[in-house]
Amino acid sequence: MSKIALVTGANQGLGYAMVARLCQDLPAGSTVYLAARDQERGEAAVASLREQGLQPSLARLDVTDDASVQALAETVARRHGGIDIVLSNAAARIVKDRPQAAQVRTFIDTNNHGTYRMIRAFGPLLRDGGRLLIVASAFGSLSKLDPRLHHLFDPAARSLEDIERVMDEYVELVERGEAEAHHWPAWINIPSKIAQVASMKVYARQRQDEAAQRGFVIAALCPGLVDTDASRPWFDDMSSAQSPADAAKNALWVCTQPAESPRVYGELVQHRRIIPWV
Ligand SMILES: NC(=O)c1ccc[n+]([C@@H]2O[C@H](COP(=O)([O-])OP(=O)(O)OC[C@H]3O[C@@H](n4cnc5c(N)ncnc54)[C@H](OP(=O)(O)O)[C@@H]3O)[C@@H](O)[C@H]2O)c1
Repeated sequence: MSKIALVTGANQGLGYAMVARLCQDLPAGSTVYLAARDQERGEAAVASLREQGLQPSLARLDVTDDASVQALAETVARRHGGIDIVLSNAAARIVKDRPQAAQVRTFIDTNNHGTYRMIRAFGPLLRDGGRLLIVASAFGSLSKLDPRLHHLFDPAARSLEDIERVMDEYVELVERGEAEAHHWPAWINIPSKIAQVASMKVYARQRQDEAAQRGFVIAALCPGLVDTDASRPWFDDMSSAQSPADAAKNALWVCTQPAESPRVYGELVQHRRIIPWV
């Protein structure tokens, strides 16, 4: 049966490769939305996939903009009545030549509040047997965080909005140069990825009973090191990095697994294995 899929931040990097893979793997008649915040970059990405014989559809989406996320969710609901695969992949980069305090607000707004906007807008559209997948990383495990902060991300006790507030407070601490004094790690990517996984876990808990009946999966993915423009500046040696195409193939394995086998629901999955939360 044909499927409806959407990948955010898909005009380059891992997102682009996941769109290519979905276009190849999904049944005939499926629709794969390549979502991009910039029209020209999105059109260029779609054109390059069409040259390869693939047929993605372009969707404009800026995950920092409530109205943009809401408008796309309404379009998908109107055209298709629901969605089978959502890959929340869009991410702001950290650049080396600016202090993290100058980057943290956009970074958290994109990677964390953007994830929240996607969950809120597209979670209700998920069809039976569907997948709502947050692209995070292995840094998204509580083991990377000082135990004094673990309670802030307790999926059993926190709501999505609690985690949104924690991240707003975190942004202010980083901007004031006080985050490390409050036991936060120095690198802003770590709290951000932990919060992404925590939000996924909270949402998975909220919909657990319904998911068991309807066979949909909510999970987070760690693609591992992937050779993209985002990762390349941070490593002298990229010889161990996967190509985006290989990483996409691995990551999308979760799309083909039955919800119960293996048990990926509410988990962070890397290379087909579950990364422990704590
Ligand atoms: N690369 C790795 O080694 C690695 C490792 C672990 C996890 N990950 C995760 O994998 C995901 C993809 O990483 P990547 O390396 O492919 O990154 P990337 O090459 O920087 O691609 C990120 C994509 O997100 C888009 N984006 C940025 N801000 C956006 C916004 N406000 N709204 C919508 N789209 C926006 C970018 O669009 P523009 O082109 O317009 O900027 C770009 O298409 C991220 O979540 C990342 O954290 C990557």
